[in-house]
Amino acid sequence: MAWMERILFFLALQGFARGDKRTVYCNFMETCILPCRFQVGEDVVVHWRELKSGNIVLSFYHNKEQPDSPAERFRGRTSLFKKVSEGDASLKLRSVKVQDEGRYQCYTSSTTGSAKLREMDLKVEALPGKVNIQQEGNKITCSAEGVYPSAEFTWSTSPPVTLNETKEPTVQRTEQWLYNISSFVLVSDDVSDVDYSCTIRTQNYKRRATLFRPTRINSSNTETMIPCTENTTGTAPTKLTWRFNHSEIILNQTTTNIPLEKWKKHVKKSVSETGDLILQDLTPDQDGVYRCELSTAEETWVRNTFLKVIPDNPLSATTAIVIGLVVFILVLIGVIVLAWHLCTGTQQQ
Ligand SMILES: *[C@@H]1O[C@H](CO)[C@@H](O)[C@H](O)[C@H]1NC(C)=O
Ligand SMILES: *[C@@H]1O[C@H](CO)[C@@H](O)[C@H](O)[C@H]1NC(C)=O
Ligand SMILES: *[C@@H]1O[C@H](CO)[C@@H](O)[C@H](O)[C@H]1NC(C)=O
Ligand SMILES: *[C@@H]1O[C@H](CO)[C@@H](O)[C@H](O)[C@H]1NC(C)=O
Ligand SMILES: *[C@@H]1O[C@H](CO)[C@@H](O)[C@H](O)[C@H]1NC(C)=O
Ligand SMILES: *[C@@H]1O[C@H](CO)[C@@H](O)[C@H](O)[C@H]1NC(C)=O
Repeated sequence: MAWMERILFFLALQGFARGDKRTVYCNFMETCILPCRFQVGEDVVVHWRELKSGNIVLSFYHNKEQPDSPAERFRGRTSLFKKVSEGDASLKLRSVKVQDEGRYQCYTSSTTGSAKLREMDLKVEALPGKVNIQQEGNKITCSAEGVYPSAEFTWSTSPPVTLNETKEPTVQRTEQWLYNISSFVLVSDDVSDVDYSCTIRTQNYKRRATLFRPTRINSSNTETMIPCTENTTGTAPTKLTWRFNHSEIILNQTTTNIPLEKWKKHVKKSVSETGDLILQDLTPDQDGVYRCELSTAEETWVRNTFLKVIPDNPLSATTAIVIGLVVFILVLIGVIVLAWHLCTGTQQQ
């Protein structure tokens, strides 16, 4: 039994790393291909092993994949990517987990070709959907959830100021072995004219979130533009959310461009490139904080605007009444004069 001898040879080869070593990056929970090509021949044997546990991930012999070969942890998640008969023994691993990280070995042999052992390192990456930035009191917190491997934070400001950045980032491990990470800076009350940015960075990616200095607007109840971003140069925005007083959603552009029912009559339009919102028919009920959050694949911008609705100036209201009264009196006099003319005219006839 040639294949049995070759299994023995495979066992004998353990511990000798052969061939080129490489690193394969796999996205968390996605399907990943571990490449392994060989010179095709008769009676092919393929074994994939995870080195840290010694577990078999997949075996192929007797011209077929052996369905019971994978260890429990891999069962149902592995298959050969292409046809072994074409010299491709690449492994397809589905729903990649953080626990799958480590070195893998691909053993191939056939009666006509020589036996080969290839090794590669599997590395898992999980990117956060976005980086969150928010301010509570004088604490600005930047956070990202579901990151792997862990990331570094860097803070910056525009214009540059010295930051009180004392704490190491907080790291929490989730059930899926990912990291929830956050970092904060304390800001003093006398530096309110500053934009804060935080960047999180791992080996292969970086993402940034910026909290613009707050805007304060006093508005009479006509049209008012609430700004979101100034520069979003280059990349097209993918998500825009407007919130009122931190919780209430006015508009969520991921789903539709249409504001929520309650806000329909106040939202004149939203400008998608910069995210600005144009409001109309405001009453003091719309006093509060308007938070805009605009994001692209790499960046998030956040701005809070404090809107104060000033009812129409009482002085101008008085003026309007006075003008109205004067016009009314003039019209009244006109009517009386006309009526007198008509009257006297009739009498003369
Ligand atoms: C940083 O903030 C802490 C807590 O508010 C304060 O005690 C410390 O003096 C601050 N350091 C600087 C350099 O501002
Ligand atoms: C990490 O963040 C996710 C998403 O917000 C949350 O559901 C989970 O509870 C967090 N896990 C830990 C350990 O903090
Ligand atoms: C808005 O009005 C308040 C008083 O109601 C005033 O203190 C503030 O300076 C005004 N802000 C602007 C931007 O006009
Ligand atoms: C916007 O762009 C101008 C010029 O390109 C630059 O001076 C300014 O700092 C930018 N503002 C922000 C908030 O990035
Ligand atoms: C906006 O809509 C998207 C898509 O339905 C949803 O995933 C997201 O949670 C919504 N955002 C908010 C802030 O509700
Ligand atoms: C929104 O917040 C402002 C200031 O915090 C508050 O005065 C106002 O009553 C709030 N509006 C609503 C509708 O909750």
